Amino acid sequence: MSAISLHRAMSGRRSCREFRERAVSSMALQNLLWAAQGESDDEHHRTAPSAHALYPLQLMVTIGNVEGATRGVYSVSSETQSMTQVIDRDMRKDLERAALDSQPWIGRAAGIITICADLASPTRAFAEQPPFGARGLRYVYIEAGAAAQNVLLQATAEGLGCVLIAGFRDEETSDLLRIKAPIAPILHLCFGWPE
Ligand SMILES: Cc1cc2nc3c(=O)[nH]c(=O)nc-3n(C[C@H](O)[C@H](O)[C@H](O)COP(=O)(O)O)c2cc1C
Repeated sequence: MSAISLHRAMSGRRSCREFRERAVSSMALQNLLWAAQGESDDEHHRTAPSAHALYPLQLMVTIGNVEGATRGVYSVSSETQSMTQVIDRDMRKDLERAALDSQPWIGRAAGIITICADLASPTRAFAEQPPFGARGLRYVYIEAGAAAQNVLLQATAEGLGCVLIAGFRDEETSDLLRIKAPIAPILHLCFGWPE
């Protein structure tokens, strides 16, 4: 685990959109995944907070250039960060084409963590609280933002570049990553060695 002060990580964080053709280590990827949703003690607390501890977020990772990992798309276990391959081909360019506007940094990233969420269970859990039916979704987006910032700061601590991307076509992105409702993609975190 890289050790720089939190102040330095926050000061150094910038959106990076120019990536080098250099592999990211599998340990660095594991650290990014842990920062997003990892368990931080034996009582299953996590690195990011969750309303009512529902933990509706789920991670997918698209691998392009990570040491020891075959190109493709993987689902990620929050408990262990272990990765299960769901697609065995390089999907970075496909995700780039599903972006709003031209975003070539998606296709050039070493990898893309997609923060997805179960939209149904928080909607149900907070249905009785105003604004009725909308509070659960609001909480999902807050949680995704907290997890994303953890990843951005961990990437900075690793010396990696990273950018949060939320400008993509939702349905096309779901189809590409084989995500089915009520799970939906919320944002991508494209990472790699900065140019
Ligand atoms: C909700 C959200 C959505 C974003 N979507 C995109 C995006 O689709 N493409 C992109 O290149 N950057 C995106 N960004 C990154 C912002 O453009 C970036 O944070 C902003 O320009 C400030 O620059 P900085 O991150 O270097 O401080 C997004 C950021 C946020 C918070």
